[in-house]
Amino acid sequence: MRSLIDIMDLSVQELDELTDKALDIIAHPEQYAHACEGKKLATLFFEPSTRTRLSFEAAMYELGGHVIGFSEAASSSASKGESVADTAKIVSCYADIIAMRHPRDGAALVAALNASIPVINAGDGGHCHPTQTLADLLTIRREKGRFDHLTIGLCGDLKYGRTVHSLVNAMSRYQGTRFVLISPEELRMPDYVLQTMADEHIPYTETADLDGAIPALDILYMTRIQRERFADPEQYERLKDSYVLTPEKMAAAKADMAVLHPLPRVNEISVAVDADPRAAYFRQALNGKYIRMALILKLLAEADGAPAVTLPEGLRADLRCHNRRCITQTEQELPQRFEQAKDVWRCLYCQTAAER
Ligand code: NCD
Repeated sequence: MRSLIDIMDLSVQELDELTDKALDIIAHPEQYAHACEGKKLATLFFEPSTRTRLSFEAAMYELGGHVIGFSEAASSSASKGESVADTAKIVSCYADIIAMRHPRDGAALVAALNASIPVINAGDGGHCHPTQTLADLLTIRREKGRFDHLTIGLCGDLKYGRTVHSLVNAMSRYQGTRFVLISPEELRMPDYVLQTMADEHIPYTETADLDGAIPALDILYMTRIQRERFADPEQYERLKDSYVLTPEKMAAAKADMAVLHPLPRVNEISVAVDADPRAAYFRQALNGKYIRMALILKLLAEADGAPAVTLPEGLRADLRCHNRRCITQTEQELPQRFEQAKDVWRCLYCQTAAER
């Protein structure tokens, strides 16, 4: 049985198959209208969401299935202190597949280790957001017609923005990808993501200058500064207006550059850009529903009661994770688990390197 915790759980071939399937669903929706009859999706959202939760729910309804769940932690037993592990075990009794969003890095992996049904990570803290990346990939395919030889600018909060972490991992597997990482110094890409690019020999540059970067880009992926993940509210106030994409800035971009944004937008894209045909972000949100339909179909077809995730060999339990947002900080009796990555040991849940 399969879960989707990290975008790297899917091979490049599987990514292609999922986008093929989504395109077929778009062309022939009637052929899928009963595909999930009698099946239940549980949406467990411990953190706010509009697009991700509603697109999952719309996806399941359009497949003829049912949806149960909650949309805030306050209305679940998490507010009484229930662990993620127990919640996953309980929901496995009531549903066929789980989509879960949680404020803690690594929470989705804990759910998958304890559930007896497939778990889809709908965002774990500032760590990963693989189904947003699936929506991004379908958008790239529809807007650009290819996945290879693209120069992709990622702009904004690259530290806490989970969508860009998953997108880098996915796009690092295609030929000719280049990244331009555009952020304030304080919100640079975390080292575990930079490591992926280095491992895959993906050229990247880091800059704070959007104007200087824009002319070379095939895709500009804007992100929101993630207010809820800042430990220091003053730092957020200082950085919140770092970038605003305007029609004037768009004038320097390629005629066929695509602007993506996972949304919600706060102020980082001027509303005046929406009328530009290169603004793909509302189309991207619609693509999110179709690709989630394709994903639900795939994971339900592969569900067979076997454990969804098995632990890799050679883990260490004698180190401590120092990431204050990691699920190991709050989950009852969750053992520390560290995996070797090159010359460092990384927390299995959040990928933060162990301090030496
Ligand atoms: C993103 C998220 O939740 O990480 N939103 C989404 O799922 N479309 C981006 C964000 O919140 O800024």
